[in-house]
Amino acid sequence: MCGIVGYVGSDEAGEFLIDGLRRLEYRGYDSAGVAIHGGATFSITRSVGRIDSLAAELGATIPSGSLGLGHTRWATHGPATLENAHPHLGGSGEVVLVHNGVIENFQVLKDELIQKGYVFASATDSEVIAHLIAEGLKQTPANEEQPNLRYLAAVQWAVSRLRGTYGLAIAFRDHPNFMIAARFGSPLVIGVGRGEYFVASDASPLVGRTDRIVYLADHQLAVLTPEGFSVLHRDQGKVRVDIRPLETDSGEASLEGFDHYMLKEIYEQPESIRNAMRGRLDDENATAVFGGLNLTPQQLRCVERIILTGCGTSWHSALVGEYLIEDVARIPVSVEYASELRYRNPPIENNTLVFGITQSGETADTLAALRETKRKGHRTLAICNVVGSSIAQAADGGVYLHAGPEIGVASTKAYTSQCCVLAMLALYFGRLRHVSFESGKRIIDELRQLPAAVQQALSCDEQVRDVAKKYQNASTVLYLGRQYNFPTALEGALKLKEISYIHAEGYPAAEMKHGPIALVDEQTPSVFIIPRGTTYDKVMANMEEVKARGGPVIALASRDDPQVESLADDVIHVPQVPGFTQPIVNVIPLQLLSYHIALLRGCDVDKPRNLAKSVTVE
Ligand code: F6R
Repeated sequence: MCGIVGYVGSDEAGEFLIDGLRRLEYRGYDSAGVAIHGGATFSITRSVGRIDSLAAELGATIPSGSLGLGHTRWATHGPATLENAHPHLGGSGEVVLVHNGVIENFQVLKDELIQKGYVFASATDSEVIAHLIAEGLKQTPANEEQPNLRYLAAVQWAVSRLRGTYGLAIAFRDHPNFMIAARFGSPLVIGVGRGEYFVASDASPLVGRTDRIVYLADHQLAVLTPEGFSVLHRDQGKVRVDIRPLETDSGEASLEGFDHYMLKEIYEQPESIRNAMRGRLDDENATAVFGGLNLTPQQLRCVERIILTGCGTSWHSALVGEYLIEDVARIPVSVEYASELRYRNPPIENNTLVFGITQSGETADTLAALRETKRKGHRTLAICNVVGSSIAQAADGGVYLHAGPEIGVASTKAYTSQCCVLAMLALYFGRLRHVSFESGKRIIDELRQLPAAVQQALSCDEQVRDVAKKYQNASTVLYLGRQYNFPTALEGALKLKEISYIHAEGYPAAEMKHGPIALVDEQTPSVFIIPRGTTYDKVMANMEEVKARGGPVIALASRDDPQVESLADDVIHVPQVPGFTQPIVNVIPLQLLSYHIALLRGCDVDKPRNLAKSVTVE
């Protein structure tokens, strides 16, 4: 987490830094800061809280200078205080840097540096890097002819001593117009302008500034001056630079009249689902087509097991994928928390395909789980939203979601797009095996109806708002569903807790009587997902059990269902769609319910406390 930006050129750095930090604020918003080199020294401004506080701190006049660094923080080491805010200084101020990542051996290094007389101003692991570079400078003789080399050598030495992850932008008081960026495990891109260069944690700050981008790889460093830039491997010297065009959808999204990004992104879902399917449904062969799997149909026919892995909401879409792929393609699927998979070392059979599912493409655990399985010789694929992200690069191939930037910290449209891509993959795998042409055509027809069904589901907004008013003060909410609606129950509960801070639990409805039913009382509402389908009668019985204990019931049900209407306290109508597309449709009212409850409780919907959009630490 944390977002970093840097600028070297001939323009004023300040405007880019602040604007860039605003675009990266989703990565963390505990504190922020900028350092701008004014020719002789740095002017450093920091503040606790959001970029707005930093902008207020800077006032009308941002310090002048054509080299600068900026940072927005998600705290790991040390609380969100002014002292811990970046940029950090090394030595007696000759080094200034911003860091995204976690340095695991920071305490050993810190002790060593304290012994040498370095004085620490913060509790962060990042400050250790700044002092270490200052120490590197001390140990490296001056090079009058090529002064850049001395600074580079100091950084190379310092990063070689780090264990952990870093995305760094580093500048030097006594060597203006010069910056070094370095990456290991935390994303970093370079924007290539004309006479100016940009550093950022992702592509979004670069939009409107340049149309050329370089994605740094692990162990790479970039050396930037207004005259040009070069990239080198930490130990192996210069590398060939792959300058790519900047994707236009990397840009900052605007609210377009909505009060919050989350609401806007909920409402974008008919379109984002359409985009996930665009060009991927093949009527002629009654199947789906994917350009980037990098595996032949023959190789895919040999797949005997699939592992789906991810974190949080992406893990929930993996659960949906398990139902879908087993149901449609008849391939055994295991779903794994990436954070567990990376260390669990399970036996994985030959011919197993591993999918990492991720919106950001930067989640540290998902990246590590994919790398670990790849290292053991298994094919890895990514289902990912962010083009060029670390996971997209690390996997052998994959499928992009094309959902557009998701800014709200709570994932909404990326989730439904992930489910949609998994449904198409299930069709594709199924058609490579036993699924008939006729069944394939039916699945395609049903997928095509999804955007309209999602649009119709959105029309429950008013109804959901009333339900939200009624239950906004609940302290626990249960979410219950079966089969395809079980992951939806988990996702509904996660959405509520993360943005409204109400405790919520999702369960398979029938599991409730094995424990959670003890939570049921007059103050604890249960949300039942009960559209017509195979387990309808069973879920109805589970609903009776809650009612019998005085628990209020909110039902997500098909229209014209007198049985549900007579039992539930509140009914939210969802369009009736086939079981395998229900997760995509039925989650919509639950996203809206959490949104409205959070709003009524005065919570910061787009930036809930303690969270960040992309979790690049373990
Ligand atoms: C919840 C949410 C998180 C993410 C999780 C994985 O709304 O957004 O649970 O799903 O942090 O992130 P990605 O999908 O970027 O790997």
